[in-house]
Amino acid sequence: MSIETVERPSTGAATAGQPMLDVKDLVVRYGNGRKASSAPAAVDGVSFSIQAGETVGLVGESGSGKSTIGKAILGLQKVSGGSIAFQGKDITSPDAARRRALGSELRAVFQDPNSSLNPRMTIGASLAEPLRVRGVSAGEARTRARDMLERVGLAGDAVDRYPSQFSGGQRQRISVARALICEPQLVVCDEAVSALDLSTQAQVLNLLADLRDERGLSYLFIAHDISVVQFLAQRVVVLYRGQVMEAGPTAAVTESPKHPFTQALVAASPVPRPAEQARRRALRESLGIRTAAAVAATPGGCPFRQRCPLATELCATERPALRRVGNADVACHYA
Ligand SMILES: Nc1ncnc2c1ncn2[C@@H]1O[C@H](COP(=O)(O)OP(=O)(O)OP(=O)(O)O)[C@@H](O)[C@H]1O
Ligand code: SF4
Ligand SMILES: [Mg+2]
Repeated sequence: MSIETVERPSTGAATAGQPMLDVKDLVVRYGNGRKASSAPAAVDGVSFSIQAGETVGLVGESGSGKSTIGKAILGLQKVSGGSIAFQGKDITSPDAARRRALGSELRAVFQDPNSSLNPRMTIGASLAEPLRVRGVSAGEARTRARDMLERVGLAGDAVDRYPSQFSGGQRQRISVARALICEPQLVVCDEAVSALDLSTQAQVLNLLADLRDERGLSYLFIAHDISVVQFLAQRVVVLYRGQVMEAGPTAAVTESPKHPFTQALVAASPVPRPAEQARRRALRESLGIRTAAAVAATPGGCPFRQRCPLATELCATERPALRRVGNADVACHYA
């Protein structure tokens, strides 16, 4: 079983030391014209990079801007400020030709596999589609679709079946196959395992890890649950209301979080061991952090200040810049 290289226009080769993806001071506001300029930023000055073969996890509560960042990288959301570079080339506002070329280098796996699988098309046709667009013959595309399906753990004869004939976990494997069939460099996985039960989640995470190691892929792995991100990511970026609160190596961020919000996120993360779960519940209560629903967003200062038990006058007036604490970058005046 082999996956051959797909002929495609290249967006440029990554050179040594150059990040696969470089996001700088990204700002996204929803709405058009004057409405957008007065709207609060859904993403407010976010910077991070992903190296070749690296997985970066993007975590945060619902509404923190994770998917907006993913969509901006994929060219699906207009950017209001900052820049995005892929393999050293600017893709902040790609034109149609660049977007087509990027279509095979930069792929996505979303939470809902139905969004990438047409219910009226056979799995074989869905998988072949991105190859056919790039000039691969029908017979060759079908062979590659079968190979790819076998690689993600499904029988090759799945090519003749329809999405409704598979379970949720199998459909997510098919989405992974569809994302990888063009041999991309970077895959944005947005809540790719969140809808699956725990054991299926583990199987799909293992599959993503194996494919990454085999193919030297880079992932931006988006999830609200830090324990899911922890499994795959070498580095983690923690978002709160569109801003980075903490970023660093996974072990540093998850084992000794420095930012009060990261501490709350880690304490809220479910674990299968009852004793550890009880310890985290006690920690969560001792932190005295208010729920998101209890506070409204107010501009200026630290975005977390209304929920933070350590907040002072300074936190209300000055937005904390990211600064190095240990081996992580933390945006807190008192970390
Ligand atoms: N199409 C849209 N129009 C207007 N506002 C939007 C739109 N999409 C998202 N938003 C807003 O932007 C903010 C960030 O949303 P986003 O979907 O990026 O969050 P998220 O971190 O992915 O959340 P979740 O974990 O629930 O998926 C939210 O306040 C949301 O209401
Ligand atoms: S800057 Fe202030 S409000 Fe923000 S997390 Fe740190 S202590 Fe809390
Ligand atoms: Mg989302």
